[in-house]
Amino acid sequence: MSSSISVFGLGYVGTVTATCLAHKGHNVIGVDLSLAKVEAMQAGRSPLVEPRVGNLISESHAADRLHATSDPEYAVLNSEISFLCVGTPSLRNGKLDLGHIEPVCREIGQALKKKNGFHLVVLRSTVLPGTAETIVVPTLEKSSGRTLGQDFGVCVNPEFMREGTAVADFLEPAVTVIGAADSKHSGVLREIYKWAPGRIFETSFRSAEMVKYVCNAWHAVKISFANEVGTLAKELGVDVEAVVEIFTADTKLNISPTYLKPGFAFGGSCLPKDVRALNYRARELDLNLPLFQSILPSNDEHLDRAVEMVLETGKKKVGMLGLSFKAATDDLRESPQVQLVKRLLGEGRQIRIWDDNVSMGHLIGSNRQYIEEVIPHIGSLLSTSLSEVLKDAEVVVIATRGLDDDELRGCLRPDHIVIDLVNLERGSQPATSGNYEGICW
Ligand SMILES: NC(=O)c1ccc[n+]([C@@H]2O[C@H](COP(=O)([O-])OP(=O)(O)OC[C@H]3O[C@@H](n4cnc5c(N)ncnc54)[C@H](O)[C@@H]3O)[C@@H](O)[C@H]2O)c1
Repeated sequence: MSSSISVFGLGYVGTVTATCLAHKGHNVIGVDLSLAKVEAMQAGRSPLVEPRVGNLISESHAADRLHATSDPEYAVLNSEISFLCVGTPSLRNGKLDLGHIEPVCREIGQALKKKNGFHLVVLRSTVLPGTAETIVVPTLEKSSGRTLGQDFGVCVNPEFMREGTAVADFLEPAVTVIGAADSKHSGVLREIYKWAPGRIFETSFRSAEMVKYVCNAWHAVKISFANEVGTLAKELGVDVEAVVEIFTADTKLNISPTYLKPGFAFGGSCLPKDVRALNYRARELDLNLPLFQSILPSNDEHLDRAVEMVLETGKKKVGMLGLSFKAATDDLRESPQVQLVKRLLGEGRQIRIWDDNVSMGHLIGSNRQYIEEVIPHIGSLLSTSLSEVLKDAEVVVIATRGLDDDELRGCLRPDHIVIDLVNLERGSQPATSGNYEGICW
């Protein structure tokens, strides 16, 4: 079934969106402030240089499915759905400039005053979480005098295309994200994207807005990481192509969701040591690798957050569940849990620790040496009984995934403040009358 669609903003995103939706059989009206862009599209020419766009525009123009105007009211009154693709550039200080978003919402709102049928507004521009809720919806409601849900709907539908391959990216998206407050609204977009091969995710406005930034930040990190790896490898006389081929072949730990779930700081006998060694070598070579250099400070900052969370409760007695750097191991070397205990003791907190796998009597070798150097009296804080540790605790710090859910629930009281550092699965999170908080979720 074809729909009537208006697309506001005929830059890269808007032109490709308008072109591809017309290609899929919809009747599309492009809208822009630039008369040159409007005239080009109205004449069946592409307003910009991008592979495949010119041909698709002339096909849809010939089929009378693609038009353009500079009149927003005409566009809204002659469409059921409006895609917002206006620019959201940076201001000089880095702040996101919403100077095009608000005016376009006002224009659409004013046109909606004159419209009888339901209208869906789809926010496709990249905006920070909260923009749909605090700017787009209120501006539309104020300028139209209409109500969200009743007279119009809003969806957040971020664009993942890359310039140069924009048409292919649009027509074969890896995923499609639809943020909406009402499944009736997301249902309209689902229908529009029914040909899309990837999975369609329906989520909240804020998640849809955030996911676009997470993707772009991740892509930027990947590029910078690869460039720093290459820079170091070149100086060390290493064939970086061979290294990257092997590195990317590991789809279990390297190119995979592993380690991407927010949780506690990393530790153990390898990661901190090896990151330190790489940075030291880079410094010896006079290489400035800011991304590598920022890894350990970022990890330390995360430990600081955990310390602050416990201190902010204002409570004295802390029950710590988990001491080794990872569940099902007794390795305490560079465990951030050990560092957390040390810091909290220094702040005058009383701590009892439970860890099923750690018993001072059994620690040997470098593991024992580490703990004797860092925090020799830790043995006196350890208990083998979870219930005993929680009995006197006011704050419970969950620092291991190796917990028995039922045993934990059986020992927790409503007055316990629970701080989760390990991101327990939703089903395992204890319901302690709102006193549960995750370190970064
Ligand atoms: N360029 C990309 O590859 C890409 C990819 C994904 C997402 N995005 C995001 O999509 C959005 C658009 O990016 P772009 O590169 O297409 O921007 P752009 O600057 O190329 O184009 C924006 C267009 O909007 C028009 N415009 C501004 N106010 C208007 C109004 N009131 N009515 C009608 N038209 C109006 C401008 O004249 C301009 O032609 C941005 O938020 C961007 O971050 C861009």
